[in-house]
Amino acid sequence: MGVRVAIIGASGYTGGELLRILSLHREVEVIAATSREYAGKPITHVHPHLRGFYANMRFMDVDLDKILRADAVFLSLPAGVSLQYTPRILESGLKVVDLGPDYRLKNAEDYVRWYGFEHPQPDLLKKVVYGMPELHREELKSAELIASPGCNSTAAILALIPAVKEKLIDLDHIAIDVKVGSSEAGRKPTAGSHHPERDNVIRPYEASGHRHVAEVEQELSALAGRWLKIAFTPHAVGCIRGALATAHTWLVEGADEKAIVRAFASCYGKEPFIRIVRGPPVGYPDPKYVVGSNFADVGFAYDERVGRAAFMAAIDNLMKGAAGQAVQAFNIVMGFDEREGLLTPPLKPA
Ligand SMILES: NC(=O)c1ccc[n+]([C@@H]2O[C@H](COP(=O)([O-])OP(=O)(O)OC[C@H]3O[C@@H](n4cnc5c(N)ncnc54)[C@H](OP(=O)(O)O)[C@@H]3O)[C@@H](O)[C@H]2O)c1
Repeated sequence: MGVRVAIIGASGYTGGELLRILSLHREVEVIAATSREYAGKPITHVHPHLRGFYANMRFMDVDLDKILRADAVFLSLPAGVSLQYTPRILESGLKVVDLGPDYRLKNAEDYVRWYGFEHPQPDLLKKVVYGMPELHREELKSAELIASPGCNSTAAILALIPAVKEKLIDLDHIAIDVKVGSSEAGRKPTAGSHHPERDNVIRPYEASGHRHVAEVEQELSALAGRWLKIAFTPHAVGCIRGALATAHTWLVEGADEKAIVRAFASCYGKEPFIRIVRGPPVGYPDPKYVVGSNFADVGFAYDERVGRAAFMAAIDNLMKGAAGQAVQAFNIVMGFDEREGLLTPPLKPA
């Protein structure tokens, strides 16, 4: 028997993706998967793509007494809901990986500003580790509570780590544009995500002040050693999976294309899930070539004429942007090979 894992919120998109990944994870046994709406129904009732896996398993209601028989719990829940469950799970000595935003920000006051509520557990925010291995691998090894990054934020941060870390850009003028597919909104249709409204769109939303920029600023400021203010505009686009961040920046005096290439190699050369994309046949990161996988493709374009560098990262929002990254962090926490369950190549065509 492997490490026992429970998923609260297993009928949603990220919960389903966790089930898919963990079905091939050699160190894990999924002992509980919750859905209040589908409690008692087979997993395949909601996730027919998992036919042949989890054959005898059914969704259960959120019954913490049963869930606490696990060793680790993934929370795939809407904003604000993880707060209800996390303290009791942690008190029982289990590890928690939260895919939602309830613990991503270190400063409790930021929750009032960005999420509109007073954070009820400020002490837990001091313990939490932001679950991006490329930034926090060492801290993750002893983490109890992991806040898995948002999808837009993951793409934005990964695009910019080399330039910020190696101080190649004017840190006071960073503007990030993200394009993201419809699965980022979860499986419950809304007026904006309903297929006829969403299909084929290229639509800015929360074009200034999107809450994901709070974690982007938090993480890149820590890397820069001073507080950064960053402009951020997401766009809903017509694909189902995929997110592409393009960060527009200006190089500082003395920085050039060679320095960017060196920075990418030193930051990402040994990263198991980062692929540096440069040159033909496909010159720049493209979400189409990471779909279904935990890879993030990163790259850049340097326009010498105006001194501008555009840094890019492409991910599958449900994988490196959610469940894949959460399992990668969990693997580090549990002392497993970081790649366990995650070495699926992307799909093509997708
Ligand atoms: N989708 C993405 O690309 C993405 C990427 C990164 C992070 N995230 C974050 O991950 C979290 C989950 O996203 P998702 O896309 O998987 O959402 P989703 O498809 O809407 O799924 C939400 C899940 O939570 C359960 N749930 C809802 N309210 C609950 C409650 N009060 N108590 C217990 N269970 C509850 C739902 O099942 P029942 O209602 O049947 O219980 C469902 O299983 C969100 O915080 C989201 O922001 C999403």
